[in-house]
Amino acid sequence: MNAVRVYDIITKTRDGLGLSREEIRFLIDGYTEGRIPDYQMAAWCMAVYFKGLSAEATAELTMAMVDSGELLTWPEFGDELVDKHSTGGVGDKTTLVLLPWVAAAGVKIAKMSGRGLGHTGGTLDKLSSIPGFRFDLTRTEFIRAVEEAGLAVVGQTGNLVPADKKLYALRDVTATVDSIPLIASSIMSKKIAAGASRIVLDVKAGSGAFMEELSRAKLLAETMVDIGAKTGRRTTALVTNMDQPLGYAVGNALEVREAIATLQGAGPEDLTELCLALGAEMLVQAEKANTPEEGRHLLVEVMEKGLPIEKFRAMIAAQGGDPTIIEEPGLLPQAPVCSDAVAPKSGYVTRIHTKKIGLIAMELGAGRQRIEDDIHLSAGLEIMVKVGDKIEAGQVIAKVYGPTPEVVETAVGKVEASIEIGDLPTKPLSLILARVSR
Ligand code: URA
Repeated sequence: MNAVRVYDIITKTRDGLGLSREEIRFLIDGYTEGRIPDYQMAAWCMAVYFKGLSAEATAELTMAMVDSGELLTWPEFGDELVDKHSTGGVGDKTTLVLLPWVAAAGVKIAKMSGRGLGHTGGTLDKLSSIPGFRFDLTRTEFIRAVEEAGLAVVGQTGNLVPADKKLYALRDVTATVDSIPLIASSIMSKKIAAGASRIVLDVKAGSGAFMEELSRAKLLAETMVDIGAKTGRRTTALVTNMDQPLGYAVGNALEVREAIATLQGAGPEDLTELCLALGAEMLVQAEKANTPEEGRHLLVEVMEKGLPIEKFRAMIAAQGGDPTIIEEPGLLPQAPVCSDAVAPKSGYVTRIHTKKIGLIAMELGAGRQRIEDDIHLSAGLEIMVKVGDKIEAGQVIAKVYGPTPEVVETAVGKVEASIEIGDLPTKPLSLILARVSR
């Protein structure tokens, strides 16, 4: 048999020809272990960017990346972990609400989350605004927390998917991030390596999303669901709207406050609806419901009994946090300065430039540009309007929270410019744009 050569793998990919399992393994192992140089891997990524990869090769790539590091298993939970992943959005505090809600319906949740980067936030940053909350638990502590509270959320530990860390850094500087097979394999490899066997994906589409175009977001969802099917991980995806912030709050402590209200049944309509839709899918995956409709009924029932907020309380307590923030949200970090943004004229909200809102939140200190940056947990925005709302000149359209009057005043001007007001009525946006399953 001829020896596998990187040059041939690049050529075949460039020419749109298939790759064998052996070739993909050779490439990923060789790159992770430093035998294949960046310039050859960059050329291969660019070939994938232009020519794509077959569904089989994409699934093979995913598993080769998983096998580059540790593969966590959870025999303590019967090895059937249901996980949820969002491709990231502005004001996306879904995990904070969804996990306690689904846990309240009897599903054990052991989740690994990350920090935020750029205009989208991360669950760990949001949770770190709860005084005392620890997410650096040992495996034993993590398992005990799940047993005690029914759910736990921790930071990523171990050597998971080193191939992705190296490859993502390379893609980032070679204009090859935006390739659907590369994104799909990157995301799915991390979920699989963390031990998820049943996965619910929230793929965001719109101006605040990583994938702005709906058709590409759908394709990404289909590609990930396909990887799930080919690798034996049952996967369902919802494609959801990110053409306006989710809920009202954008920023860590502000989002925890909103999550608490939602867990008490008094949250924003869109956030509540998204959690019902994703939660229903998780209950089907966990075999607690036969259909999403049945799952939804179960979620409504547990909310009527007031159970989700109690799960959140139990999670905070099991992870060393102070659960009195539920009754006294004033104990969460408070911004030194708050100012209102107002509508310059009467009319209808026609468009919210959501990515700009995410970037304004970042400039206020709520997010980080580089992974090593510090953040202000109290900083952020409350966008008080949704597309389609009728508003009056002078009406408060956003509240802006930040560290100094100068920073806040600059942000107020930018927020006012990010919310378009027109004369004609505009339809409210649909939230769930597509469902993909196999
Ligand atoms: N998020 C990921 O985890 N990987 C990508 O490639 C893109 C976004």
